[in-house]
Amino acid sequence: MTDPRDAERSHRLDEILPRRGTGSVKWEYAEGAAARGSSLAAVAPGSDVIPMWVADMDFPCPPAAADAVRERLRHPIFGYTAERPGFAAAWCAWMETRHGFRPRPEWVVPTEGIVPDLGMLAGTLAEGAGVILHPPVYHPFFGIVRHAGASVVSCPLRRTGKPGNPYRLDLERFERVAADPANRVTFLCSPHNPVGRVWRREELTAFAEIAGRHRVIVIADEIHGDLMLHGARFTPWLSVPGVDRSRTITASAPSKTFNLAGLKCSCLVIPDAGVRRRVRRARDRRGAYGVNPLSAAAAEGAWRGGAAWLDEVLGYISENARRLQQFFEERPRLGVLVTPPEGTYLAWLDFRESGVPPAELDSFLLGQVRVRLEDGRIFGEGGEGFARVNLACPRPLLEEALHRIEQAITVERRSHMDRRSPERHF
Ligand SMILES: Cc1ncc(COP(=O)(O)O)c(C=O)c1O
Repeated sequence: MTDPRDAERSHRLDEILPRRGTGSVKWEYAEGAAARGSSLAAVAPGSDVIPMWVADMDFPCPPAAADAVRERLRHPIFGYTAERPGFAAAWCAWMETRHGFRPRPEWVVPTEGIVPDLGMLAGTLAEGAGVILHPPVYHPFFGIVRHAGASVVSCPLRRTGKPGNPYRLDLERFERVAADPANRVTFLCSPHNPVGRVWRREELTAFAEIAGRHRVIVIADEIHGDLMLHGARFTPWLSVPGVDRSRTITASAPSKTFNLAGLKCSCLVIPDAGVRRRVRRARDRRGAYGVNPLSAAAAEGAWRGGAAWLDEVLGYISENARRLQQFFEERPRLGVLVTPPEGTYLAWLDFRESGVPPAELDSFLLGQVRVRLEDGRIFGEGGEGFARVNLACPRPLLEEALHRIEQAITVERRSHMDRRSPERHF
């Protein structure tokens, strides 16, 4: 087994690197959940449940990130640290080479996590107003909006034709809700968690036109923007024609891209100087100025030297996604339909034809299947009967999870048939 101390150099993606003992939320949090007063369904310590829920990767981060942290550790003072120009410059250069769009370094405000950022932005820009969300969507959005004293205005994604067809933004409904002056802000999740959709330039252009017409502020959460599968192309919101730059903020981060989520490092990208000043002041009022020196070093290192690592990881995850889809296509009797992800490392599974009642899906997965996925219901409208699976894991883990799902649904179906026709046994 790989020694975790130098795993980022010698690791092969198929290897399972144990994470227990590191405080991993994905692997350990559920074990003491009840004692901590969490409502999360608990599992026994050391349980063999496969955790495929929280969105981080079971792969070591790029050597370029770990090297940059080690380099910074050579100086033993970790006092208050101001943001340094190298951070914004590294991110802007990354965006240009990766996505063909060069933001201006002065737009970049380093922060400590997108969820707290969105809370601050909603409180600063939307208090008392409506915030338009596009469910099923990343579940913390709902709480962020409500805690900021704003209200959720739902504009669900649409899916026409066959159940496996791609999701789309509902632009007609967006136009209607955006026309209400009470609805001042929308969160755009791009690419979209949990359905894995990579929004096309034309869709984003139409979205920008509507937002512009009704002066709705767009907060584009692009945390998954680098995670393009099967060679998909990401369109950064700020590169979309017609975006009103005085009414937009993009949130980005190295955390999903390079598996650095525990380092709590992100940035807000705010082209308008006035809005930027307002956001910086709101941030300072919360005492959230400065940066974590280790996180900033890791981010800068990864943006400068992590491209080859990312290409390899994306190839591997694309293959996991293909395998997931092939598995259920070859077994239609299981009644599980995969929405093929174009971006993110998350896949959206439709269990509505599996025979497992939607209200029992989560406990079935945890109890009978022994995998922990995210229950679709937490993502809001359109999530019932679905679950989100995290594919950023070694393939042997994925294979074991698929095997367990097959076994458990087969047993469930058999016992369901037995319940329906007990006379067969007499
Ligand atoms: C769309 C989206 N935004 C934000 C986050 C979390 O951001 P952070 O860890 O920087 O708070 C996630 C994590 O899964 C996410 O999927």
